[in-house]
Amino acid sequence: MKKRLILLLAAMLLLGGCAASQGKPADNAYEDYIVVGFSQVGAESDWRNANTRSMQQALSAENGYRLIIDDAQQKQERQITAIRNFIHQGVDYIVLAPTTEQGWDTVLAEAKAAQIPVIIVDRRIDVADEGLFACWIGSDFRLQGDTAVRWMEENLAGQPLQIVHLQGNYGSSAQIGRTESLDIGVAANPGWTLAARDSGDFTQAKGQELVEAYLAGGIGFNLIFAENDNMAYGAIDALKKNGLVPGKDVTIISFDANRTALQMVMKGEISFDVECNPLHGPRVQAVIEQLERGETPPKFTFVEESAFGAEGLTEEIIDSRGY
Ligand code: AHR
Repeated sequence: MKKRLILLLAAMLLLGGCAASQGKPADNAYEDYIVVGFSQVGAESDWRNANTRSMQQALSAENGYRLIIDDAQQKQERQITAIRNFIHQGVDYIVLAPTTEQGWDTVLAEAKAAQIPVIIVDRRIDVADEGLFACWIGSDFRLQGDTAVRWMEENLAGQPLQIVHLQGNYGSSAQIGRTESLDIGVAANPGWTLAARDSGDFTQAKGQELVEAYLAGGIGFNLIFAENDNMAYGAIDALKKNGLVPGKDVTIISFDANRTALQMVMKGEISFDVECNPLHGPRVQAVIEQLERGETPPKFTFVEESAFGAEGLTEEIIDSRGY
């Protein structure tokens, strides 16, 4: 397993500006490190940045790793190129946080042919042969969506809802799962209608842009179902700019439960926030250690997650959280 890195410097040049290597072990010490190529979706959200930090902290030089991160700027083609570069470099492991579920068969077959184990984190992939990856660790996005919809049913019962739905990037598990739940909720609740729906790509700027456009277009709504915190922040900015009070005039439902968002839950601006846990670094580290010992990690690991309304939420709880 421990091929270790021979061509690291040359390959880092190949990756150019997109790759960032963590730490700086002495040049003659590369063979002592486990080299991991991490293809990250991008930096579209606070969640994503917390996820990158978690990987950097766990797969650090102090822990015996050489981590090469490639930021794909939310583009699957860039991820495919990054994986090919990692293969060319001869890294020991590839970690992939996929943009979308489809389109990975060919490049992962190439990684398999090169005998490089691939660990999938966060979103799922849909491949014909599950032998193309060692294991997956991430969230149950459908459960997250169902949790949000259940809260709406229990807390807004009997109120007609005109819903603005801010979706994540299409084809990602986070978007697919959360959208499925809302669709089922809308079909099951006669008083709920979809006033508008579009992808805000999980970014604050697009969340704001969309809500501003809906308001300018005269679309009436009283609830925003934002598929992540950053789009919720953008939506809140748009509402305030237009003299509307988030949490009063418009109920906001969100996902991720970052610290900033939980402060907004305490203030009543966001009514309910479903956790999506980004702290996968130590989980990936544990999997690599298992693989190094010749053990087989569980194929699929769902992380445990919670959800937050204002009731019972305190500064201490928020401060104690890892992101
Ligand atoms: O896949 C996890 C999602 O991706 C998070 O909800 C979102 O914030 C991120 O960009």
